[in-house]
Amino acid sequence: MSGIIFNKTKKLSEIVTFYKEKLNMEIWDDQTKCKILSKGNLLLGFCESDFSETEGMITFFYEDKQMVDKMYKNFKDIATCKPRENEEFNIYQFFAKDPEGRNLEFQAFLYDLAPYKRGDEILRKRRSYRRFKKKEVKDTVLKKILKDCRYSPTSMNSESYYFVIVKNRKKIEKLAAIRGNSSKPIKEAPVAVAVCASGEKTKRPKQDGDIAAYHFMLSAFNYGLGTCWIADMNRKKVKKILDIPENDFVATVTPLGYPDKYKNKPDRRKIEEFFIVQK
Ligand SMILES: Cc1cc2nc3c(=O)[nH]c(=O)nc-3n(C[C@H](O)[C@H](O)[C@H](O)COP(=O)(O)O)c2cc1C
Repeated sequence: MSGIIFNKTKKLSEIVTFYKEKLNMEIWDDQTKCKILSKGNLLLGFCESDFSETEGMITFFYEDKQMVDKMYKNFKDIATCKPRENEEFNIYQFFAKDPEGRNLEFQAFLYDLAPYKRGDEILRKRRSYRRFKKKEVKDTVLKKILKDCRYSPTSMNSESYYFVIVKNRKKIEKLAAIRGNSSKPIKEAPVAVAVCASGEKTKRPKQDGDIAAYHFMLSAFNYGLGTCWIADMNRKKVKKILDIPENDFVATVTPLGYPDKYKNKPDRRKIEEFFIVQK
Protein backbone atom coordinates (compact mmCIF):
# COMPACT_ATOMS: atom_id res chain seq x y z
CA MET A 1 0.00 0.00 0.00
CA SER A 2 1.01 3.59 -0.52
CA GLY A 3 -0.62 6.86 0.56
CA ILE A 4 -1.17 10.55 -0.02
CA ILE A 5 -2.22 13.23 2.44
CA PHE A 6 -4.51 15.81 0.81
CA ASN A 7 -5.10 19.35 2.04
CA LYS A 8 -7.64 21.85 0.75
CA THR A 9 -6.28 25.25 -0.23
CA LYS A 10 -7.59 28.63 -1.35
CA LYS A 11 -4.21 29.44 -2.97
CA LEU A 12 -3.33 26.35 -5.00
CA SER A 13 -0.79 28.01 -7.27
CA GLU A 14 1.05 29.88 -4.48
CA ILE A 15 1.15 26.82 -2.23
CA VAL A 16 2.41 24.53 -5.00
CA THR A 17 5.11 27.09 -5.90
CA PHE A 18 6.18 27.26 -2.22
CA TYR A 19 6.58 23.50 -1.82
CA LYS A 20 8.30 23.21 -5.21
CA GLU A 21 10.69 26.10 -4.84
CA LYS A 22 11.39 26.10 -1.12
CA LEU A 23 11.29 22.36 -0.45
CA ASN A 24 12.37 21.02 -3.83
CA MET A 25 9.24 18.91 -4.09
CA GLU A 26 8.24 17.75 -7.55
CA ILE A 27 4.84 17.40 -9.18
CA TRP A 28 4.14 13.68 -8.98
CA ASP A 29 0.65 13.88 -10.51
CA ASP A 30 -1.25 16.87 -11.88
CA GLN A 31 -5.04 16.54 -11.74
CA THR A 32 -5.43 20.28 -12.52
CA LYS A 33 -7.65 21.10 -9.51
CA CYS A 34 -5.49 18.89 -7.33
CA LYS A 35 -1.71 18.71 -7.51
CA ILE A 36 0.20 15.92 -5.83
CA LEU A 37 3.76 16.73 -4.85
CA SER A 38 6.47 14.27 -3.93
CA LYS A 39 9.79 14.29 -2.16
CA GLY A 40 11.43 11.18 -0.77
CA ASN A 41 8.65 8.94 0.47
CA LEU A 42 6.25 11.84 1.08
CA LEU A 43 3.25 12.34 -1.21
CA LEU A 44 1.41 15.53 -0.41
CA GLY A 45 -1.71 16.64 -2.31
CA PHE A 46 -3.26 20.10 -2.48
CA CYS A 47 -6.76 20.64 -3.87
CA GLU A 48 -8.37 23.92 -4.87
CA SER A 49 -11.19 24.91 -2.52
CA ASP A 50 -12.99 27.92 -1.07
CA PHE A 51 -11.33 27.29 2.29
CA SER A 52 -7.88 26.17 3.45
CA GLU A 53 -7.13 23.25 5.74
CA THR A 54 -4.24 24.14 8.01
CA GLU A 55 -4.56 21.72 10.90
CA GLY A 56 -2.01 19.05 11.71
CA MET A 57 1.70 19.02 10.98
CA ILE A 58 3.73 18.31 7.88
CA THR A 59 7.06 16.85 8.99
CA PHE A 60 10.11 16.66 6.77
CA PHE A 61 12.93 14.58 8.16
CA TYR A 62 16.60 14.53 7.28
CA GLU A 63 19.53 12.23 7.84
CA ASP A 64 21.31 14.30 10.47
CA LYS A 65 21.30 17.45 12.58
CA GLN A 66 23.54 19.28 10.11
CA MET A 67 20.88 18.93 7.43
CA VAL A 68 18.23 20.32 9.80
CA ASP A 69 20.53 23.27 10.55
CA LYS A 70 20.94 23.82 6.82
CA MET A 71 17.17 23.86 6.37
CA TYR A 72 16.89 26.34 9.25
CA LYS A 73 19.21 28.72 7.39
CA ASN A 74 16.93 28.46 4.33
CA PHE A 75 13.75 28.94 6.36
CA LYS A 76 14.81 31.50 8.96
CA ASP A 77 12.17 33.94 7.68
CA ILE A 78 9.26 31.55 8.30
CA ALA A 79 10.69 29.54 11.24
CA THR A 80 8.85 29.88 14.53
CA CYS A 81 11.77 28.65 16.68
CA LYS A 82 15.44 27.69 16.42
CA PRO A 83 16.54 24.04 15.98
CA ARG A 84 16.79 22.19 19.28
CA GLU A 85 16.96 18.71 20.73
CA ASN A 86 13.71 17.28 21.99
CA GLU A 87 14.75 14.79 24.66
CA GLU A 88 11.31 13.28 25.06
CA PHE A 89 11.30 11.98 21.48
CA ASN A 90 15.08 11.90 20.93
CA ILE A 91 14.81 14.10 17.87
CA TYR A 92 16.32 17.39 16.66
CA GLN A 93 13.74 19.80 15.27
CA PHE A 94 12.47 23.25 14.46
CA PHE A 95 9.08 24.48 13.31
CA ALA A 96 7.92 26.85 10.60
CA LYS A 97 4.72 27.87 8.78
CA ASP A 98 3.81 27.62 5.10
CA PRO A 99 2.20 30.68 3.35
CA GLU A 100 -1.28 29.64 4.53
CA GLY A 101 -0.17 28.98 8.10
CA ARG A 102 0.19 25.20 7.95
CA ASN A 103 2.56 23.82 10.56
CA LEU A 104 5.84 22.53 9.19
CA GLU A 105 8.37 20.55 11.16
CA PHE A 106 11.97 19.90 10.12
CA GLN A 107 13.65 17.15 12.06
CA ALA A 108 16.31 14.47 12.36
CA PHE A 109 15.70 11.30 14.35
CA LEU A 110 18.61 10.77 16.72
CA TYR A 111 18.20 6.98 16.68
CA ASP A 112 18.16 4.16 14.11
CA LEU A 113 15.12 4.04 11.87
CA ALA A 114 13.31 1.27 10.05
CA PRO A 115 13.70 1.56 6.25
CA TYR A 116 11.70 4.35 4.63
CA LYS A 117 13.39 5.04 1.29
CA ARG A 118 11.60 4.60 -2.04
CA GLY A 119 12.87 1.97 -4.47
CA ASP A 120 14.14 4.56 -6.95
CA GLU A 121 16.02 6.36 -4.18
CA ILE A 122 17.73 3.14 -3.20
CA LEU A 123 18.78 2.57 -6.82
CA ARG A 124 19.86 6.16 -7.47
CA LYS A 125 21.35 7.27 -4.19
CA ARG A 126 23.47 4.26 -3.29
CA ARG A 127 27.12 5.24 -3.40
CA SER A 128 30.42 3.61 -2.56
CA TYR A 129 31.28 4.74 0.95
CA ARG A 130 34.87 4.73 2.14
CA ARG A 131 34.53 6.63 5.42
CA PHE A 132 32.32 5.58 8.30
CA LYS A 133 31.09 6.86 11.63
CA LYS A 134 32.35 5.19 14.79
CA LYS A 135 28.92 3.76 15.39
CA GLU A 136 28.21 0.11 16.12
CA VAL A 137 26.30 -1.94 13.54
CA LYS A 138 23.84 -3.84 15.69
CA ASP A 139 23.23 -7.54 15.07
CA THR A 140 19.50 -6.84 14.84
CA VAL A 141 20.13 -4.56 11.83
CA LEU A 142 22.56 -7.05 10.28
CA LYS A 143 19.96 -9.79 10.56
CA LYS A 144 17.38 -7.63 8.83
CA ILE A 145 19.79 -7.00 5.94
CA LEU A 146 20.58 -10.70 5.66
CA LYS A 147 16.87 -11.53 5.62
CA ASP A 148 16.53 -9.37 2.48
CA CYS A 149 19.49 -11.18 0.93
CA ARG A 150 17.44 -14.39 0.86
CA TYR A 151 15.68 -12.89 -2.17
CA SER A 152 18.85 -12.65 -4.26
CA PRO A 153 18.46 -14.76 -7.42
CA THR A 154 20.72 -17.78 -7.81
CA SER A 155 21.42 -20.24 -10.59
CA MET A 156 18.84 -23.06 -10.39
CA ASN A 157 17.74 -21.57 -7.08
CA SER A 158 20.85 -23.06 -5.51
CA GLU A 159 20.93 -20.39 -2.74
CA SER A 160 24.67 -20.90 -2.80
CA TYR A 161 25.56 -17.51 -1.30
CA TYR A 162 26.77 -16.97 2.24
CA PHE A 163 28.14 -13.99 4.14
CA VAL A 164 31.15 -13.98 6.44
CA ILE A 165 30.71 -11.19 8.97
CA VAL A 166 34.02 -9.95 10.35
CA LYS A 167 34.15 -7.79 13.47
CA ASN A 168 37.57 -8.90 14.70
CA ARG A 169 39.79 -5.80 14.31
CA LYS A 170 42.96 -7.80 13.58
CA LYS A 171 41.27 -9.67 10.76
CA ILE A 172 39.75 -6.46 9.40
CA GLU A 173 43.21 -4.82 9.37
CA LYS A 174 44.65 -7.84 7.54
CA LEU A 175 41.88 -7.74 4.91
CA ALA A 176 42.35 -3.99 4.49
CA ALA A 177 46.08 -4.42 3.84
CA ILE A 178 45.68 -6.88 0.96
CA ARG A 179 45.35 -4.33 -1.87
CA GLY A 180 46.83 -1.14 -0.48
CA ASN A 181 44.73 1.97 -1.18
CA SER A 182 42.05 -0.02 -3.03
CA SER A 183 41.25 -2.19 -0.01
CA LYS A 184 41.93 0.50 2.63
CA PRO A 185 38.22 1.44 3.05
CA ILE A 186 37.72 -1.93 4.76
CA LYS A 187 39.53 -0.76 7.87
CA GLU A 188 37.54 2.47 8.10
CA ALA A 189 34.36 0.54 8.99
CA PRO A 190 33.41 -1.36 12.15
CA VAL A 191 32.46 -4.46 10.14
CA ALA A 192 33.76 -6.19 7.00
CA VAL A 193 31.61 -8.64 5.07
CA ALA A 194 32.93 -11.23 2.64
CA VAL A 195 30.20 -12.21 0.22
CA CYS A 196 30.78 -15.75 -0.97
CA ALA A 197 29.13 -18.56 -2.89
CA SER A 198 29.63 -22.26 -2.33
CA GLY A 199 31.31 -24.18 -5.13
CA GLU A 200 29.62 -27.31 -3.77
CA LYS A 201 26.11 -25.95 -4.19
CA THR A 202 26.30 -24.50 -7.69
CA LYS A 203 28.20 -24.59 -10.96
CA ARG A 204 27.92 -20.81 -11.06
CA PRO A 205 29.36 -19.51 -7.79
CA LYS A 206 30.71 -16.37 -9.51
CA GLN A 207 27.33 -15.17 -10.75
CA ASP A 208 25.51 -16.16 -7.55
CA GLY A 209 28.14 -14.48 -5.37
CA ASP A 210 28.29 -11.26 -7.41
CA ILE A 211 24.52 -10.82 -7.47
CA ALA A 212 24.23 -11.60 -3.74
CA ALA A 213 26.90 -8.98 -3.04
CA TYR A 214 24.97 -6.26 -4.85
CA HIS A 215 21.73 -7.40 -3.18
CA PHE A 216 23.54 -7.05 0.15
CA MET A 217 24.76 -3.56 -0.75
CA LEU A 218 21.30 -2.33 -1.72
CA SER A 219 19.71 -3.83 1.38
CA ALA A 220 22.42 -2.33 3.61
CA PHE A 221 21.75 1.08 2.03
CA ASN A 222 18.03 0.62 2.68
CA TYR A 223 18.89 0.35 6.39
CA GLY A 224 21.07 3.48 6.27
CA LEU A 225 24.38 1.61 6.03
CA GLY A 226 27.20 2.16 3.57
CA THR A 227 29.27 -0.36 1.63
CA CYS A 228 31.97 -0.33 -1.03
CA TRP A 229 32.74 -3.05 -3.54
CA ILE A 230 36.40 -3.95 -3.06
CA ALA A 231 37.47 -5.91 -6.10
CA ASP A 232 40.35 -8.15 -6.97
CA MET A 233 41.03 -9.13 -3.42
CA ASN A 234 43.71 -11.75 -3.51
CA ARG A 235 41.24 -14.54 -2.99
CA LYS A 236 43.77 -16.98 -1.58
CA LYS A 237 44.74 -14.51 1.13
CA VAL A 238 41.10 -13.67 1.93
CA LYS A 239 40.23 -17.36 2.13
CA LYS A 240 43.16 -18.03 4.43
CA ILE A 241 42.31 -15.16 6.79
CA LEU A 242 38.62 -16.10 6.92
CA ASP A 243 38.83 -19.89 6.66
CA ILE A 244 36.82 -20.04 3.46
CA PRO A 245 36.90 -23.33 1.49
CA GLU A 246 39.15 -23.33 -1.58
CA ASN A 247 36.36 -24.11 -4.08
CA ASP A 248 34.11 -21.30 -2.94
CA PHE A 249 33.95 -17.93 -4.67
CA VAL A 250 34.60 -14.67 -2.84
CA ALA A 251 32.72 -11.95 -4.73
CA THR A 252 33.95 -9.05 -2.65
CA VAL A 253 34.89 -8.00 0.83
CA THR A 254 32.96 -4.86 1.64
CA PRO A 255 33.29 -2.50 4.57
CA LEU A 256 29.97 -2.03 6.38
CA GLY A 257 29.11 0.92 8.59
CA TYR A 258 27.13 4.11 8.96
CA PRO A 259 28.52 6.42 6.28
CA ASP A 260 30.36 9.57 7.18
CA LYS A 261 30.07 12.66 4.98
CA TYR A 262 30.19 11.89 1.27
CA LYS A 263 31.70 14.63 -0.86
CA ASN A 264 32.29 13.33 -4.31
CA LYS A 265 29.14 12.42 -6.23
CA PRO A 266 30.19 10.89 -9.55
CA ASP A 267 28.41 12.21 -12.62
CA ARG A 268 26.30 9.78 -14.58
CA ARG A 269 26.05 9.39 -18.33
CA LYS A 270 22.92 10.32 -20.26
CA ILE A 271 20.91 7.22 -21.17
CA GLU A 272 21.33 7.98 -24.88
CA GLU A 273 25.02 7.18 -24.40
CA PHE A 274 24.51 3.61 -23.32
CA PHE A 275 21.66 1.96 -25.13
CA ILE A 276 21.27 0.72 -28.64
CA VAL A 277 17.90 -0.07 -30.16
CA GLN A 278 18.43 -2.81 -32.74
CA LYS A 279 16.62 -2.48 -36.06
C1 LIG B 1 33.79 -4.34 -10.01
C2 LIG B 1 34.05 -3.17 -9.09
C3 LIG B 1 35.27 -3.05 -8.49
C4 LIG B 1 35.52 -2.01 -7.56
N1 LIG B 1 36.69 -1.99 -6.87
C5 LIG B 1 36.90 -1.05 -5.91
C6 LIG B 1 38.05 -1.10 -5.08
O1 LIG B 1 38.86 -2.03 -5.16
N2 LIG B 1 38.23 -0.13 -4.15
C7 LIG B 1 37.32 0.89 -4.00
O2 LIG B 1 37.55 1.76 -3.13
N3 LIG B 1 36.20 0.97 -4.78
C8 LIG B 1 35.96 0.02 -5.71
N4 LIG B 1 34.80 0.04 -6.45
C9 LIG B 1 33.83 1.15 -6.31
C10 LIG B 1 33.86 2.07 -7.55
O3 LIG B 1 35.00 2.89 -7.48
C11 LIG B 1 32.56 2.90 -7.56
O4 LIG B 1 31.46 2.03 -7.71
C12 LIG B 1 32.54 3.93 -8.68
O5 LIG B 1 33.55 4.89 -8.51
C13 LIG B 1 31.18 4.65 -8.77
O6 LIG B 1 30.87 5.29 -7.54
P1 LIG B 1 29.56 4.93 -6.72
O7 LIG B 1 29.58 3.45 -6.40
O8 LIG B 1 29.65 5.79 -5.50
O9 LIG B 1 28.36 5.25 -7.56
C14 LIG B 1 34.53 -1.01 -7.34
C15 LIG B 1 33.29 -1.14 -7.99
C16 LIG B 1 33.04 -2.21 -8.83
C17 LIG B 1 31.68 -2.34 -9.45
